[in-house]
Amino acid sequence: MLIRKAVFPVAGLGTRFLPATKASAKEILPVVDKPLVQYAVKEAIAAGAEEMVFITSHTKNSIMDHFDRDYELESVLREDGKEELLAAVHDVLPEGISCVYIRQSEQKGLGHAIRCALPAVGDQDFSIILADDLIANGFQPVMAQMHRVYQQFGTSVIAVQRVPESETHKYGIVQVREIEAGVSEIENIVEKPDPSEAPSNLAVVGRYILTPRIFRLLDKTGVGAGGEIQLTDAIRTLMTEQTVLAYEFDGTRYDCGNKLGYLQANVEMGLRHDEIGDDFRDYLKKFAATLD
Ligand code: UTP
Repeated sequence: MLIRKAVFPVAGLGTRFLPATKASAKEILPVVDKPLVQYAVKEAIAAGAEEMVFITSHTKNSIMDHFDRDYELESVLREDGKEELLAAVHDVLPEGISCVYIRQSEQKGLGHAIRCALPAVGDQDFSIILADDLIANGFQPVMAQMHRVYQQFGTSVIAVQRVPESETHKYGIVQVREIEAGVSEIENIVEKPDPSEAPSNLAVVGRYILTPRIFRLLDKTGVGAGGEIQLTDAIRTLMTEQTVLAYEFDGTRYDCGNKLGYLQANVEMGLRHDEIGDDFRDYLKKFAATLD
């Protein structure tokens, strides 16, 4: 039971990051030296995916360019003997991995974006990674953790984490029945509930393994919260037909769709970076001493 296809919806407007996202995708914003979408693709590959399906929009050509070979750049790096940089450029898309791009012509929401993936995914279970949710520091990459749960139970798996009760209105929130440590069956899911109406503080974050049934259910899903076609609403129907699991992953999640989360991710990944980590730590210590 392997998940060969990973879907990356990267067609959002990214309004919280304007003007940076006016002409290019939020998912191409770099965290230290790699765009967000490259971390996401790496995570999918670590979980065994071989075909990357990007749901893009007209402003997202930079994503296509990023995953394309650049023979001119490669030959310059080779001639200059810059082998490490050449390896880093090759590492963007390892051998044997293919990319498919599908345009979402109108930004009608995450559910609509996922429905656009049907021609590439077909009748197979598949994964979804929202690249603006960067998750680091787990015992293994999160999608690989989820894949283990999928192999054990053979059904849809959604990543969740506890959030402060005051923040439930920012997430899909689930009500669950625990099966074993970290794995529960979802009994209800609500998109962006007010804290007074939230069934728990367990929030859905941007990692899903779903069965292809979701496509048919998305066809029947009308406009929901925020005037968008919500994946959450289709998952609520899926739950009535099939078991859908919530998995509390191990790792730190950074919401890189907002400015503060993005800066925090840069600090953490900067501190962990082989080349600049030590110098950055010294700088931060000195800088912190000047605060207050
Ligand atoms: P967000 O809720 O973060 O929306 O989308 P957004 O448009 O990207 O950003 P803001 O809120 O305006 O700042 C969650 C994910 O769904 C994708 C986004 O690219 C992001 O990965 N998405 C959203 C689409 O692909 N299409 C859509 O119509 C909406």
